[in-house]
Amino acid sequence: MSERTFLTVPEHVAIIMDGNGRWAKQRGLPRTMGHRKGVDAVRETVRAAGDVGIKYLTLFAFSSENWRRPETEVSDLLGLLKAFIRRDLADLHRQNVRVRVIGERNNLQSDILDLLIDAEQTTRNNTALTLVIAFNYGSRDEMARAMITLAQDVEAGRLRSQDITPALINARLDTAGIPDPDLIIRTSGEERLSNFLLWQAAYSEFIFMPEYWPDFTRELFYAALETYASRNRRFGGLVEKTAAAVGT
Ligand code: FPP
Repeated sequence: MSERTFLTVPEHVAIIMDGNGRWAKQRGLPRTMGHRKGVDAVRETVRAAGDVGIKYLTLFAFSSENWRRPETEVSDLLGLLKAFIRRDLADLHRQNVRVRVIGERNNLQSDILDLLIDAEQTTRNNTALTLVIAFNYGSRDEMARAMITLAQDVEAGRLRSQDITPALINARLDTAGIPDPDLIIRTSGEERLSNFLLWQAAYSEFIFMPEYWPDFTRELFYAALETYASRNRRFGGLVEKTAAAVGT
């Protein structure tokens, strides 16, 4: 267990793990080496999150747009994800980690789909960290799929269109039941969401870090959590001032 304590620990941290390719290029290595090193950073981050009591960690592992990359890179990334689940599932289970997968499941290769479902089933009763793997995920695609199910209910007369609320939309998203991310981190210096959790990010704090994902460490993660806590502390100051003003 880590001895680090924070004033506030976010309940849900989501990470856009960017910069694997540039990390490799900087070293004259093939891009796949960056992804490989990125998996080590994933392992360290999952442990670090669990150690400080984060309840949900969402990792953007493969976007619906990533299929446009060269075939060899796509197959490397899929291979790494499969290997991660095969090799690390028992360990995650021992750490009481629950795995959930978000993203489009239709038309996925059956071997990868079976692995993802098996990971969810095996760990479904675990109660420490929930590791949410965003795989074949795109936020607009997720929202369109949610809208389709709502439209189908309206067409079938099960739902009146005027009864559609944000809560009802929320419940149709892949993230149903998962609280919105308190903090979204993106590595590699890029400062955009890239179709990640657009709906869910309505009130999230953002931290953009210059380091490439393979260089991400427990220490960098905790530094981001300190920054997050200091942003919340300012909000605490406001509450204290209000309390002083009413003489409490
Ligand atoms: C972005 O780097 C990273 C990805 C597209 C994939 C992230 C995947 C992993 C770290 C490995 C598998 C995941 C898990 C959960 C085991 P990039 O290739 O876009 O980097 P670049 O912008 O420098 O080219």
